[in-house]
Amino acid sequence: MNTPKAVGTRRTVLAIAALGASALLLAMAGTPLLANQTAATTPTADTKPDVKVDAQECATCHETSVKGSRGTPHASLEQACGSCHGDVSGHLQSVTEKGEPGPITSLAKAKPADVNKTCLTCHEKGHQSTFAGSVHDRRDVSCTSCHSVHSFQSVRNQLKTARDQDTCFTCHQQIRAKGLRTSHHPVREGKIGCGDCHDPHEGSKPKMLKTEWITETCLTCHTEKRGPFLWEHAPVRENCALCHDPHGSNHDKLLVAKQPFLCQRCHLNTRHPGTLYDQTNTSAGRTTGGTGITTVSNRAVEHACKNCHQNVHGGNAPSGPYLGR
Ligand code: HEC
Ligand code: HEC
Ligand code: HEC
Ligand code: HEC
Ligand code: HEC
Ligand code: HEC
Ligand code: HEC
Ligand code: HEC
Ligand code: HEC
Ligand code: HEC
Repeated sequence: MNTPKAVGTRRTVLAIAALGASALLLAMAGTPLLANQTAATTPTADTKPDVKVDAQECATCHETSVKGSRGTPHASLEQACGSCHGDVSGHLQSVTEKGEPGPITSLAKAKPADVNKTCLTCHEKGHQSTFAGSVHDRRDVSCTSCHSVHSFQSVRNQLKTARDQDTCFTCHQQIRAKGLRTSHHPVREGKIGCGDCHDPHEGSKPKMLKTEWITETCLTCHTEKRGPFLWEHAPVRENCALCHDPHGSNHDKLLVAKQPFLCQRCHLNTRHPGTLYDQTNTSAGRTTGGTGITTVSNRAVEHACKNCHQNVHGGNAPSGPYLGR
């Protein structure tokens, strides 16, 4: 395999279906599939490609574009440039005879919906099969907001930036800001990426996550939290994001609030006082039965709840109910 941008095995297998065996053989030999294209078989978006056009003829005027996609799967498409740009032979004729561009489809200027339609003629499958109707699609984010066919910067996946997260940050500034907080997933350290939890093409799952629900996403890596436990804590089963912000927090361990306030979002003075600044918890507050002596609950002041309830995510010790040890 000595194509300039190595074509992986999986992609090669897919390419068999898309391109036919003869194209594959040429691809494997590393030959750019630009010359003498044979009959078109792949349906494309509103195009009338002329199969006689040799992409080398385009290079005289569009050298950077031709170079930019050389060695990529798109350079090996049976209809070459015509796969995306429509009537390229009409254009060629027009520029040479009249000096005018004529009938050419410009994807640099096209509306997002038209770009997506063009790309999806071939890509409405795999990860991209639910893109149409996804939040990104509905908000006019197009394939070319993140990808470039001719001037991509990433080693894989033809992204506009070298690292996938930088592609996302061009729009998601708030998420970037959260990632700079003291507690964060090691995204900026490059150990995990947005794509570990999200699929930016996903249109069928909540928040473009890779799994059907949030907790399931977290458990793909944090398997020790999966349980089942002898003593369960209901919110942990329900949704990890009730207590953690996956994108970053200034509280310890990605927590959405400081302790004990985190716990007190749900637990008020049930059974034993948990509220710090409740009057029953101040020295002037609670009076014990007729003695006139005031007491302070030892369970909240100066104690985070986890001092006693260590197994916040659930525990298995037979003698440890109430999420204790
Ligand atoms: C003789 C020079 C010449 C040749 C050869 C040529 N083009 Fe062009 N092409 C032009 C000119 C001039 C424009 C208009 C540029 C502009 O409007 O900025 C253009 C515009 C385009 C555009 C639209 C660019 C945009 O986004 O605005 C595409 C796509 C394109 N050409 C593709 C091709 C393809 C594919 C071939 C080969 C089949 C080809 N061209 C051959 C001169 C040429
Ligand atoms: C898979 C679809 C696809 C194929 C195949 C394709 N292009 Fe493009 N082309 C695009 C898109 C999308 C853009 C918009 C800029 C980008 O994504 O890089 C574009 C932009 C251009 C431009 C305008 C340059 C610019 O950045 O404004 C020219 C010229 C061009 N293509 C020529 C060609 C030529 C010549 C070929 C054949 C060698 C070709 N294209 C093959 C999708 C394609
Ligand atoms: C005529 C069919 C066709 C069209 C139209 C097309 N592609 Fe592709 N594309 C392919 C094939 C075939 C491959 C290689 C196999 C695969 O990944 O599905 C590919 C691969 C890709 C890849 C992966 C490249 C890599 O290095 O892994 C990206 C990203 C991509 N296309 C984006 C686009 C975008 C964006 C558009 C629209 C501007 C587009 N494609 C239009 C056929 C097409
Ligand atoms: C919001 C950014 C974004 C948009 C919009 C987007 N992609 Fe992608 N795409 C990515 C990223 C990032 C990857 C790398 C793999 C990943 O994280 O899913 C990728 C990977 C791919 C791949 C490589 C194979 C795969 O599925 O993993 C193809 C093909 C592809 N995209 C095609 C498209 C097409 C076609 C569109 C438009 C219909 C599109 N993408 C829209 C960001 C985007
Ligand atoms: C061109 C701008 C743009 C880029 C680039 C972009 N997004 Fe988005 N994204 C949006 C818009 C607009 C929305 C909808 C409003 C919002 O939630 O901010 C959105 C929403 C989302 C959502 C929420 C979906 C939901 O169901 O609420 C996720 C998750 C997301 N994007 C992930 C990503 C990832 C991951 C990347 C990088 C691979 C990325 N985005 C790149 C514009 C973009
Ligand atoms: C560890 C997993 C994980 C990583 C890594 C991750 N996200 Fe998320 N993201 C989530 C979860 C879970 C939600 C849903 C949160 C909710 O609904 O409470 C979400 C929601 C979002 C949303 C919707 C708005 C919001 O704040 O809820 C956007 C936009 C988003 N993520 C973008 C990104 C981007 C961009 C990256 C990369 C920098 C990224 N995410 C990395 C798990 C992750
Ligand atoms: C792709 C794997 C992956 C996924 C998915 C994932 N995490 Fe993580 N998580 C990590 C890694 C790696 C660390 C850092 C561990 C370390 O530094 O020792 C981490 C650390 C954490 C930490 C501790 C942070 C700290 O400051 O010490 C919390 C809390 C956490 N993750 C919660 C979540 C939640 C909630 C989700 C789901 C929204 C999630 N994780 C999804 C990989 C993942
Ligand atoms: C009721 C609130 C709550 C929920 C819900 C919750 N956590 Fe936590 N999590 C905490 C607290 C509090 C800490 C800090 C414990 C400490 O400081 O010792 C923590 C710490 C962590 C840590 C880092 C320390 C460790 O124990 O490894 C990870 C990873 C983590 N949680 C993952 C998850 C995952 C995954 C889920 C969902 C399955 C989840 N959490 C649900 C409250 C919660
Ligand atoms: C999102 C709401 C929520 C948050 C935040 C929360 N809890 Fe809970 N907790 C619950 C629910 C719901 C139950 C189950 C109540 C029941 O079964 O009656 C529960 C039960 C408990 C129990 C009793 C378990 C048992 O075995 O009966 C303890 C102890 C507990 N939580 C401690 C904590 C601590 C400590 C924190 C902070 C780290 C916390 N909780 C944060 C919702 C929450
Ligand atoms: C000094 C140890 C200690 C501290 C600190 C503590 N607890 Fe408890 N908690 C217990 C013990 C022991 C039980 C068992 C039942 C009882 O004695 O009331 C319990 C029971 C519970 C229960 C389950 C019983 C019920 O009331 O429904 C919840 C919920 C609870 N604690 C929440 C909290 C929260 C929230 C905090 C922090 C504000 C906290 N606890 C701080 C020791 C403690």
